[in-house]
Amino acid sequence: MKTAIIYWSGTGNTEAMAKAIERGLKEGGTDTAVFEVDKTNAGIAEQYDKFAFGCPSMGSEVLEEDSFEPFFAAVEGKLSGKKVALFGSYGWGDGEWMRDWQARTSKTGAVLFEQGLTQQEAPDEALCAEFGKRFAAF
Ligand SMILES: Cc1cc2nc3c(=O)[nH]c(=O)nc-3n(C[C@H](O)[C@H](O)[C@H](O)COP(=O)(O)O)c2cc1C
Repeated sequence: MKTAIIYWSGTGNTEAMAKAIERGLKEGGTDTAVFEVDKTNAGIAEQYDKFAFGCPSMGSEVLEEDSFEPFFAAVEGKLSGKKVALFGSYGWGDGEWMRDWQARTSKTGAVLFEQGLTQQEAPDEALCAEFGKRFAAF
């Protein structure tokens, strides 16, 4: 199964999560490609079987609104039956953006992997890699 990791990151924390998750997926034997969200589009849904989406908590407990939200709005209708993992960094909140994002993703018919992985500011990269490795086996 081919896996795509698609993320937005303003200050690099979610990007560091994406790269560590990529490492874990590859250690788990998965063919994995990583895309910054502006370098792809919703057509990617037809090209991969599994997706890990990453976006920090922005605005007030929402997905980043200029790039990631429009991308996710365009892709979410194509995720039914696909295996999906969510991840992202946050600052001062309680993870509300991730809870909302999980509920939204579940409604698409996607097969959600675990709970979305949240990390406060700079991530624990070893923990992110373990998440990727478990997702490889999912
Ligand atoms: C404009 C803006 C809005 C933010 N809003 C929230 C928020 O609502 N809740 C929260 O927990 N953190 C919020 N943060 C903090 C970021 O989620 C946090 O710094 C995160 O590590 C950024 O990830 P990144 O380095 O991948 O961009 C906000 C940061 C910015 C710049």
